[in-house]
Order: sequence, then C-alpha cells, then structure tokens
Amino acid sequence: MFTHKYIACGLAAMAWLAFGGAALAETATPMMLKKGKELFAENCAVCHQADAIGVPGLAPSLTNQELLSISSDKFLMSTIRDGREDTGMMPFAHLGRKNVRAIVAYLRSHARLPNQAEEVDSQSDARGDPRFGEQWYEYICSTCHGLAGDGYEAGGTGTAIGLPGFLDKVSDGFIRETIKKGRSNTRMLAFQGPDGLANLSDQEIDDIIVYMRGLAKN
Ligand code: HEC
Ligand code: HEC
Repeated sequence: MFTHKYIACGLAAMAWLAFGGAALAETATPMMLKKGKELFAENCAVCHQADAIGVPGLAPSLTNQELLSISSDKFLMSTIRDGREDTGMMPFAHLGRKNVRAIVAYLRSHARLPNQAEEVDSQSDARGDPRFGEQWYEYICSTCHGLAGDGYEAGGTGTAIGLPGFLDKVSDGFIRETIKKGRSNTRMLAFQGPDGLANLSDQEIDDIIVYMRGLAKN
C-alpha cells in the first residue's frame, strides 16, 4: 500500500532509505540469496507457502510489503530463532545464525518499500487507557485475533498478538504502524485513514496497544 507518506518521500529519498535501513538487503550476496531460498523451501514453505505469501489461518505472509518495511533484521532473526511459543511457529535455532541470516536476506529480496524499522522502533511508547483499548479490542480485533490474543488457536485468521512470543519482540511503533497501515493483500486491513476499515484516532490506537501489552501478563 503506497500511502501519502511514501509518495512524499520522493524517489531519491526512497532509494537512500532502502540502503540506510535494511542491513541484510544491502550486504546479501547472490550465493547467500540462493542458500536462503533453498533453506526457506526446505523448512518454511510447508506453512508459509512458496514465495512466502502465507495462508489465512495457517501462517502469515512473510513477503508482505508493510511487514518487511517495519521489520528490523533483529525482529525477523530472533522470531525465526525462537519461534512463537503456543503457536504453530516453531523455533529454528538449530539452523544456526548464518543460515537464518540467509533466509532473512532471501525474504528481504522481496521488499519494494524502503526499510523504516529504525524510525518505527524509535517511536515513543504508547500511553493510553487500557479500558478504552479493551472495548476497541473486543469490538474489532478479537474477531480475527481471539479474545485473549491467542491467534489461530481461537479459530480466526489473525496471529497471536496477545502472546509474549510476539509482544516481547516488537516495539510499540511496530504495533502502531501495523494497526494504522494494515498489511496489503492479507486480511489485516488498515484502521486509520479514509481507506481504513475503521478510522481510529492516534489516541484510540495507543489505548489498544496499552491493552494488548497487558494481555501478555495474564
Ligand atoms: C508448522 C508451520 C510453520 C513453519 C514450518 C514455519 N512457520 Fe513461521 N509462522 C507460523 C505461524 C503459525 C506463525 C504465526 C504465529 C502467531 O500466531 O503469532 C508464524 C510466524 C512467523 C513470523 C512472524 C511474521 C509476522 O507477521 O510477524 C516469521 C518471521 C516466520 N514465521 C518465519 C518463518 C521461517 C523463516 C520459517 C522457516 C525457517 C518458518 N517461519 C517456519 C508457522 C510456521
Ligand atoms: C479481519 C481480520 C482482522 C481484524 C479485524 C484485525 N486483524 Fe490484525 N491481523 C490479521 C491478519 C490476518 C494478520 C496477519 C497477516 C497475514 O496473515 O499475513 C494480522 C496481523 C496483525 C498484527 C501483526 C502481528 C504479527 O504477527 O506480526 C497486529 C499487531 C495486528 N494484526 C493488530 C490488530 C489490531 C489491534 C486489530 C483491531 C484494531 C486487528 N489487528 C484487527 C487479521 C485481522
């Protein structure tokens, strides 16, 4: 999804940011990409599908443009290494760091938007009222992500956004951007702006994030 923000950046800035942000996209050699593609096919495609496009209710898309643009290498690598407890995403520490790097480089080779992870992760922490957040969460988000945020287990198509496996690895900025912009070509729609499913205010989004952070503690 090309929002006004990206267009305002201009093409030159986009090219610059693409190099500034995504370390692995920058340093990947053709051999590393080939290796990453093979490892992906062997270990990941069974759930995430060929080309990593995902399947609703089974595994999310890993070539989704919004995901790639807000993800740091650290987020992707540590998620692959540790998996997400109590979900279908198992740990792959046994592959070793070098192989996990090759997989991330392969995923990054699908990125078409500049990497904004640094900016997104340095956003301020959410401040708000979890009681309002709870109302929005239950009204809108729980349909797909489950009331407790346990994801596919609850029968929906959204991932386990209330579990530590996700929450411990993401910044509030990551969650905020995902809610605002959604993820194109998946069921995660944008919740801000004229094209959004709902037009939540910045404060309402922060209320939801504060509520979600509390879910992990229950
Ligand atoms: C048995 C199925 C399965 C396999 C095999 C699998 N995954 Fe996953 N993966 C999942 C599920 C399910 C999730 C979402 C978990 C949740 O609900 O939070 C996920 C989530 C992820 C995420 C987080 C995506 C996001 O939107 O935040 C990444 C990154 C990821 N997987 C990478 C990989 C890689 C790389 C491999 C191979 C080395 C792999 N996965 C293998 C099922 C799988
Ligand atoms: C119609 C279903 C649906 C609704 C409603 C929905 N989501 Fe999602 N959400 C998804 C799906 C599906 C994904 C993963 C995208 C994919 O499958 O590739 C996702 C991903 C996310 C992620 C990223 C999680 C990760 O594993 O990286 C966050 C954060 C999120 N949603 C928050 C919310 C919040 C907060 C709400 C309510 C305001 C909400 N979603 C409403 C379907 C939904």
